[in-house]
Amino acid sequence: MATLRLGDIAPDFTQDSTEGRIEFHKWLGNSWGVLFSHPKDFTPVCTTELGATAKLKGEFDKRNVKVLAISVDPVESHKGWVGDIEETQGAALNFPLIADPEKKVADLYDMIHPNANDTLTVRSVFVIGPDKKVKLIITYPASTGRNIDEILRVIDSLQLTANYSVATPVNWNDGDDVIIASSVSDDDAKAKFPQGWDAPKPYLRIVPQPNK
Ligand code: BEZ
Repeated sequence: MATLRLGDIAPDFTQDSTEGRIEFHKWLGNSWGVLFSHPKDFTPVCTTELGATAKLKGEFDKRNVKVLAISVDPVESHKGWVGDIEETQGAALNFPLIADPEKKVADLYDMIHPNANDTLTVRSVFVIGPDKKVKLIITYPASTGRNIDEILRVIDSLQLTANYSVATPVNWNDGDDVIIASSVSDDDAKAKFPQGWDAPKPYLRIVPQPNK
């Protein structure tokens, strides 16, 4: 299996899920997507992550992002677990959890890191653009729950780049100033940002966030 890198086409697959059979690319349609792996059903950290993501589903919807979770356990096991997620986290699962008992998707996306654990996946996150290309890969160990707000923050940054040719600086949050992408010449920037920009250095061109 070749290493999956940013800019690669996200591998397609067909798997059963808590919401029936999913053909990944077809299911994504023209949306953005988040695919995130969970090491095992009925485990504590995963339970909290799935509940927190379910609570933020409206935020993903607003950004035209479809969320898909994966655990290597079978669908029957997933269906038993979802009741626990609702009971303990106060939110019912509102996106599909795919089953991957043969570890096909886990292999395609390199989610099993044998020197960490040779059967369970790590906590991988893939953000996929409407062009089906991988835009973000982050990897956490099984013992650290992810920050779902951070995933939304990166999606906001990716979408600003896609729509307005801007990059986001360190610790950027929605509403903060952004940076004109280096790929945009000053001449093109004049057309895109007619109000001008602050440039403490010629390569550091700062503008207010365009969609605010
Ligand atoms: C958890 O979700 O709590 C977990 C799963 C696998 C290994 C360690 C923690």
